[in-house]
Amino acid sequence: MIILNWGILGAGNISSQFVNDLILNNKRETEYKHVIRSIGCSSIEKGEKFINFDSDSNYGVTPIVETYDNFYKNDNIDVVYIGTPHTFHKEQVINCLNNNKHVLCEKPFTVNKSDAEELLRLAKEKKLFIMEAVWTRFFPAIAELKKKIAEGAIGKPYRLFADLSYNANVESLPTYSRVRDRRLAAGALLDIGIYPITYSRILLDDKLGKDHTKFDVKSFLTIDETDQVDHLGSIIIKYQDGKHAVLTSSELINGPSAYVRLEGSKGHIEMYSDNPAAARHFKIFDINGKEIYEFKDDSGYKGFIYEANSVADDIANGRLENSIIPQDETLLVMDILDHIRKENNLVYDQDK
Ligand SMILES: NC(=O)c1ccc[n+]([C@@H]2O[C@H](COP(=O)([O-])OP(=O)(O)OC[C@H]3O[C@@H](n4cnc5c(N)ncnc54)[C@H](OP(=O)(O)O)[C@@H]3O)[C@@H](O)[C@H]2O)c1
Repeated sequence: MIILNWGILGAGNISSQFVNDLILNNKRETEYKHVIRSIGCSSIEKGEKFINFDSDSNYGVTPIVETYDNFYKNDNIDVVYIGTPHTFHKEQVINCLNNNKHVLCEKPFTVNKSDAEELLRLAKEKKLFIMEAVWTRFFPAIAELKKKIAEGAIGKPYRLFADLSYNANVESLPTYSRVRDRRLAAGALLDIGIYPITYSRILLDDKLGKDHTKFDVKSFLTIDETDQVDHLGSIIIKYQDGKHAVLTSSELINGPSAYVRLEGSKGHIEMYSDNPAAARHFKIFDINGKEIYEFKDDSGYKGFIYEANSVADDIANGRLENSIIPQDETLLVMDILDHIRKENNLVYDQDK
């Protein structure tokens, strides 16, 4: 049995989904005990409303709601899940590390690579665990998919199409929304474009981080005249071994239901999900288009539990880095994001 005491920073959208998975885990027979000790929130009232579960499903513990400052000093927290918009990650990670807390930080880890390097250096110096919460990588469907590809289910993979797009009805949102506000490093690339890039890293390269197979990147972002951020982007990655990834993301239109299509010499794979970041369902088709295999994750989890369990394993075993998303893979993806922004002249205040 592995016990991990969590602090949740930010009582918003993604934190609530993360916590729901931990609570569902706690209601089941599992070897992981994820105890939610504290919610760090800008408003105590909002934080209280965020706790929509009873202590029975949290091993008898009712989490406390604290100001951010008190949260950082709370010694009952082993690891902090940071679920706030990207621009806040840097300061919040620094505060967590300086107060001796391990960190699981939402993607994108930071706004640019240079900030990410600074945080990783500090974590190393403090001898604390830190990981970017790229939950997609941890789904059982991904392990199964990789196994099938390695077994030659579609022959030699040549081309990947991957998309994460949804119609956010951008014009109806206030300009201070994190989808639109430049000051919050808004834009499709950092918020959702990171997922198609992640699929290309998972499906077209078996190596990670500094060992990666070499590739070139070319991209187009359409910069919105009012918001001055990208709501529509297309990226092509060409790996040294010739494989192509055609990657798209948008907040203006809904994407295809088969959001991943990996094409090989003997067939292809399609992935389906209500949320392309959540890798739950795929099918394999032979060269004639006949379905030959299907995998569905019917666990009932949103999927955050898979990364949470992996973090628990690492911390319980004294590891400071996760092997599924090692720190230099985070830096590699941050480097791709920096490159694409440079290619399209998208500069945020954090870059200056
Ligand atoms: N893994 C995924 O699939 C996934 C999905 C969505 C988002 N994300 C990532 O998760 C992060 C948060 O996204 P979200 O949709 O959960 O955001 P959100 O609900 O808009 O905000 C989360 C929390 O951040 C704080 N916050 C928001 N806007 C703020 C502002 N202008 N000033 C100060 N604090 C602010 C608030 O904390 P308080 O509660 O303390 O007020 C809020 O509750 C982002 O980095 C995003 O990229 C990941």
